[in-house]
Amino acid sequence: MQTMLTTLILGATIAAAAPLTARSLVSDAAGQTYDYIVVGCGVSGLVVSSRLSENEDVTVLCLEAGALDHYEDDILVPYYIGLQPDGFYEWGIYTVPQTQLDGESRHIPMGKGVGGGSLINGMVWNRGNQESFNAWNDVGNSGWGWNALLPYFEKSETYTPKNYSGAEVQPELQNPSVHGTSGPVQVSYPNYYWPQTNNWFEALHELGIPTSAEPNEGLSAGGYFLPLDIDPINQTRSDARRSYYDPIIARTNFNVQDNSQVTRVLFDTSDNLTATGVEFATGASAPRQTVYARREVILAAGAIHSPQLLELSGIGQSSILEPLGITVLQNLPGVGNNLQDHGMIHLNYNYTSPVLADVNDFAINATFNDESAAEYYGSKTGPWTAKPSCAVAFPSLEQVTESASSMLAAASSAAYNLPSTYDDEPTLQAGYERQMASVLSELANENIPAFENLNNNAGGLDLALMRPLSRGTTHITSTDPFTTPSVDPRWLVHSFDYDVMILAMQVNQRILNTDAIKYLGPSYEYIPQDATAEELGQILLSGIGTEYHYSCTTAMLPLDLGGVVNEVLMVYGTNNLRVVDTGIFPMVPGSHLQAVAYGVAEKAADIIKAAQ
Ligand SMILES: Cc1cc2nc3c(=O)[nH]c(=O)nc-3n(C[C@H](O)[C@H](O)[C@H](O)COP(=O)(O)OP(=O)(O)OC[C@H]3O[C@@H](n4cnc5c(N)ncnc54)[C@H](O)[C@@H]3O)c2cc1C
Ligand SMILES: *[C@@H]1O[C@H](CO)[C@@H](O)[C@H](O)[C@H]1NC(C)=O
Ligand SMILES: *[C@@H]1O[C@H](CO)[C@@H](O)[C@H](O)[C@H]1NC(C)=O
Ligand SMILES: *[C@@H]1O[C@H](CO)[C@@H](O)[C@H](O)[C@H]1NC(C)=O
Ligand SMILES: *[C@@H]1O[C@H](CO)[C@@H](O)[C@H](O)[C@H]1NC(C)=O
Ligand SMILES: *[C@@H]1O[C@H](CO)[C@@H](O)[C@H](O)[C@H]1NC(C)=O
Repeated sequence: MQTMLTTLILGATIAAAAPLTARSLVSDAAGQTYDYIVVGCGVSGLVVSSRLSENEDVTVLCLEAGALDHYEDDILVPYYIGLQPDGFYEWGIYTVPQTQLDGESRHIPMGKGVGGGSLINGMVWNRGNQESFNAWNDVGNSGWGWNALLPYFEKSETYTPKNYSGAEVQPELQNPSVHGTSGPVQVSYPNYYWPQTNNWFEALHELGIPTSAEPNEGLSAGGYFLPLDIDPINQTRSDARRSYYDPIIARTNFNVQDNSQVTRVLFDTSDNLTATGVEFATGASAPRQTVYARREVILAAGAIHSPQLLELSGIGQSSILEPLGITVLQNLPGVGNNLQDHGMIHLNYNYTSPVLADVNDFAINATFNDESAAEYYGSKTGPWTAKPSCAVAFPSLEQVTESASSMLAAASSAAYNLPSTYDDEPTLQAGYERQMASVLSELANENIPAFENLNNNAGGLDLALMRPLSRGTTHITSTDPFTTPSVDPRWLVHSFDYDVMILAMQVNQRILNTDAIKYLGPSYEYIPQDATAEELGQILLSGIGTEYHYSCTTAMLPLDLGGVVNEVLMVYGTNNLRVVDTGIFPMVPGSHLQAVAYGVAEKAADIIKAAQ
């Protein structure tokens, strides 16, 4: 039985709705047989498990390494974004030293628990551009363009627009035809609008960067007010646990076993590879247990752990597996290569004007913080609903520089700087060249974002690279499943990626110099307003890290382009092993990843059902 853990602040609690028991939570899966075993109950795993169990004639088991949460305020209340304690439903994994930067390793946070990344993420909900999904289709994945995905993006959400008086985000300026009205995830807006948001949009207008009230129709680049996965009424996080688990726990054919880390996939090798089940353990020194699959095994462990499991199970690049003494069941060079992420740097130009309170005041003004907490718990209003940065920009090259075409020309002739695992692997090299051509042709379009600017309304103007040409790797270095894989994101190894980020930092300098932002009193203590490109470069190399958007490591691509899964997400060489998570993206889209992950998993569930 789950105990309800509530946080009491000012005598109030929001956890009244927490279920006391979760009947779908099992602990006795070992030795049993299910029709489907799903590995990892994060965003993708819960969507797939939930949809497959709609058919009451099939049984589904989802195995999750982390725990089922207790409706902690740290998860539910937007205020706690970024304030959750170290290791809170999180793996605690670091990269290898980034020698192309400053030689340091970086923390790459990943969700661990029923709900995965959606328990701890920034709640931002956007999809990226139509062309980026059409490009997925065009690199060899028939049926994966924007028009094919849109119904699934819609299927995952219930969208509730909001009319902040006079603001950019008015419902009549939005496009209801791209939104869902009855999906599991509540997508809406905070019940508070930071007044500085207007300065942000004015600044973008001063610079000629267009804004739009509809970020999710996939048509434009520029400024937006982004929705969140937030319940419009009670203003709590609508994560995968709340949306795809809680509503269906009465289903007897839907089973989730938490605290169970899958250690490998088991195969019958007599007729190609047929997955027969998986091995798992409740801890590094606990005994390995086995559970059997009648129909399929579906890996949804995320872009780092799904390739780890493939490699541990004998599916991967021979040159990685053989030195570890692992029998190669299927040589697939794509596994663990093609790692993509949006490199991100936090930049602070703290606004000093005392006229308006901002998110920094929570920490330094106890009166403001206490009043905000009281408003939140009392009426679900006020700044505690609005911690995340909703007012952002995704500019295209064309919108911010005269040199877009020369940057793109230089990019295509620059050194690739591919990982050494690409040596002697013509399919990986061919796949890279196909992707590079695709990304560069997209970026020539004035509606395709090149970078993201995450304004926090307090002088934080964080930057993230949306369409990287750099490629990284994640590979096992041990046959022990509890040894963390070696993750090497290789941010900025391609000179184009570096150049785009320097450009983005220069755009920050222009933004700070607009009348609308000067009014807020930006501070140049950390980054001088007249910093040269070389000085910005030093800041960039020591500051860049992850935007948590690890992807593309088990890419859906043709085999001759280094693919790992085909267009129905089946691992090449297997009869019944699929992957469904951000690892199957062939190229990372220019957006945050959760809305895309939900939509892709919805489509995957239909593909799997169609094969029944
Ligand atoms: C700190 C942070 C902030 C983010 N902010 C945003 C944001 O604001 N907006 C946005 O759109 N996206 C954001 N993201 C990204 C988004 O949350 C992820 O892209 C998304 O969760 C990926 O979904 P997934 O299904 O691929 O993997 P996940 O949701 O990560 O699920 C994978 C699950 O598999 C489990 N697992 C792994 N290995 C095993 C194993 N061997 N056995 C059993 N279980 C296993 C994991 O514990 C996890 O629960 C953020 C992510 C993080 C970490
Ligand atoms: C918020 O409201 C939704 C219904 O809109 C409900 O399902 C959910 O449990 C509520 N969340 C909390 C934390 O009370
Ligand atoms: C939104 O608010 C604006 C200004 O307050 C008003 O003009 C407009 O009609 C409102 N729109 C809707 C759909 O309520
Ligand atoms: C096994 O693989 C071969 C070659 O890929 C294929 O022709 C054959 O149909 C496969 N067998 C089954 C049962 O899928
Ligand atoms: C600027 O803001 C950051 C983030 O809120 C904070 O850590 C830092 O101390 C601030 N610096 C100053 C000088 O206020
Ligand atoms: C702290 O917050 C209170 C309440 O919002 C406000 O009245 C006061 O001016 C703030 N103090 C400072 C020093 O900003």
